[in-house]
Amino acid sequence: MVRVGVDENLSPELLTDFPNEAEIVRIPRKGSEKLDVDFWILPFARKDAATTFARLRGVKVVQSMMAGVDWITPWLPEGITLCDGRGIHDISTSEWVLAAILASMKRFPLYRDLQSLHEWGGQAAERDGFLNEQGAQAGQYRILGEDLSGKSVLIIGYGSIGSAIEARLTPFGVTIVRVARSARQSPQVHSVSELHQLLPAADIVIAIVPFTPETEKLFGPKELALMKPGALLINAARGPVVDTDALVEALETRKIRAALDVTDPEPLPPNHPLWSAPNCLITPHVAGSTPEFIHRAFRFGAGQLRRYLAGEPLENVVSDAGY
Ligand SMILES: NC(=O)c1ccc[n+]([C@@H]2O[C@H](COP(=O)([O-])OP(=O)(O)OC[C@H]3O[C@@H](n4cnc5c(N)ncnc54)[C@H](OP(=O)(O)O)[C@@H]3O)[C@@H](O)[C@H]2O)c1
Repeated sequence: MVRVGVDENLSPELLTDFPNEAEIVRIPRKGSEKLDVDFWILPFARKDAATTFARLRGVKVVQSMMAGVDWITPWLPEGITLCDGRGIHDISTSEWVLAAILASMKRFPLYRDLQSLHEWGGQAAERDGFLNEQGAQAGQYRILGEDLSGKSVLIIGYGSIGSAIEARLTPFGVTIVRVARSARQSPQVHSVSELHQLLPAADIVIAIVPFTPETEKLFGPKELALMKPGALLINAARGPVVDTDALVEALETRKIRAALDVTDPEPLPPNHPLWSAPNCLITPHVAGSTPEFIHRAFRFGAGQLRRYLAGEPLENVVSDAGY
């Protein structure tokens, strides 16, 4: 038997794959009652997670249902095995990245803005700065969007989601350049130490790294300045991976454009300059969250419980306390 802690509001449908030996302990969001739990499946990035943890007794395993665990590690004591949700976000987050790239290149945010004004307009060069109409097409037709085909895409963080992004981008005929912490071959992955040499050649730069002390402000004024004029920065990682002030400056001076699922701070305050920065598409940290994702997450959780009960090694272990 294993006592499995879950959020009080969790749908019973998500627990159907759980083994019979799992005794479900529903954890009220409010209250001071102490609860005995062996295996805690964390609700999604709740701000009260640390205070909830303080009400639990006997926790041996904490299973995050998010790929990143930067919101757990600061308060989780040693001696508890922590597992992340690596893999369960691959489909939803890589699809968001593809949608953000295509929406930005085809100028959907601009056309949606024009639609709300009931305005039938093409792309106005003076509004977009670098997105002007120079070239053989000038005077022939207005530029209405760009092709993704033929572009160079730099994926920074070639892990589970990074490789899912590559799989979805490949049919578009782009050149992919991969970056991780350390270099490797087959396929070729560059070390992050080469980032400054790689940035100037990329049309699209995708940040999909975990948030760690090393990745905080990985994109600062220097990195943003190294980007090709008009290049597109996609941040689907965590907000603090990009220096917000430097990003606002780069957008306002129309050096680059951006599509962001994450910002620093979150939520973005209503009066924040990023909201109205030009050529910037923002979604409120939703890339990983789809109805299909939650079923994937709890199927994975059920598998972890079966491994736990069988005494087998758990998957996705971030810190192993040998439970
Ligand atoms: N927006 C959303 O809703 C959403 C959803 C899911 C995930 N995320 C974010 O995406 C992150 C990645 O998820 P994942 O499942 O793909 O993780 P993963 O499989 O662990 O891959 C992470 C990759 O980042 C690389 N990396 C780590 N530190 C780095 C550094 N300092 N410089 C360059 N590369 C570095 C790793 O390099 P090595 O391979 O060399 O170790 C690895 O390739 C999560 O941690 C989370 O923050 C966001």
